[in-house]
Amino acid sequence: MRILFFGDIVGKPGRLILRKRLASLREEKGADLIIANGENASGGIGLSGDTMRELFGAGIDILTSGNHIWKHKEMYNLLNNEPRIIRPANYPQGAPGSGLVIHKLADGRKIAIMNLLGRTFMDDIDCPFKKVDELLASIPEDVCVRIIDFHAEATSEKKALSFYVDGKVSAVIGTHTHVQTADAMILEKGTGYITDAGMCGVEESCLGMDPKVIIDRFMTGLPQRFKIAKGSPHINGLFLNVDGETGLCTKIELIRE
Ligand SMILES: [Fe+2]
Ligand SMILES: [Fe+2]
Repeated sequence: MRILFFGDIVGKPGRLILRKRLASLREEKGADLIIANGENASGGIGLSGDTMRELFGAGIDILTSGNHIWKHKEMYNLLNNEPRIIRPANYPQGAPGSGLVIHKLADGRKIAIMNLLGRTFMDDIDCPFKKVDELLASIPEDVCVRIIDFHAEATSEKKALSFYVDGKVSAVIGTHTHVQTADAMILEKGTGYITDAGMCGVEESCLGMDPKVIIDRFMTGLPQRFKIAKGSPHINGLFLNVDGETGLCTKIELIRE
């Protein structure tokens, strides 16, 4: 199975560049499925209903998310009613939505997509390691293509989780730090891994935001209103090839343009 995954889409620049390139990338790579992290797609923080529909309309099949998904209140309802958007699974019980979707392609093949949140330097929520065990136990055995978006800050936590599930999932893809890392690899038992897929947004920026505002924030210690950076956007993501019989990753390739 051929899969495209795009890192955090940051604001309008990220959405526009994806809208421009999505169809051609799908064709070039022969992708069966396109996944993207949408937690920053509306104004750089959060995801609105309109933006979510725009991204599905542009050709994204499944949206994952992260800590910023709760910004727009309408999302609470949408997470319960739109199966194509998931949130980190390890929020405490009772949170709206789900952290796992089993998506069916037009030809009947199925793929499980999971979303988890790290805890190091982040919110103190449920353990992602215990939660991933629960998620894996709930996925039918015949659904062997399994992708995890691990939305986390600390490299060590991302790497540890990838080794924890090596051979049990097709890929662990890190998101949240918005900077693409150079460590895409296939682990010993066949799981594809990268610490961070990067972002789709303005390249010369602080994680997609106007650097001036971020400098002020660091220098004054005061909260500042974030502003999306101006400039030319880039696309960061990954192309994965997964063996449909074993669910193991046979190729992991960076997309950076
Ligand atoms: Fe993000
Ligand atoms: Fe995040």
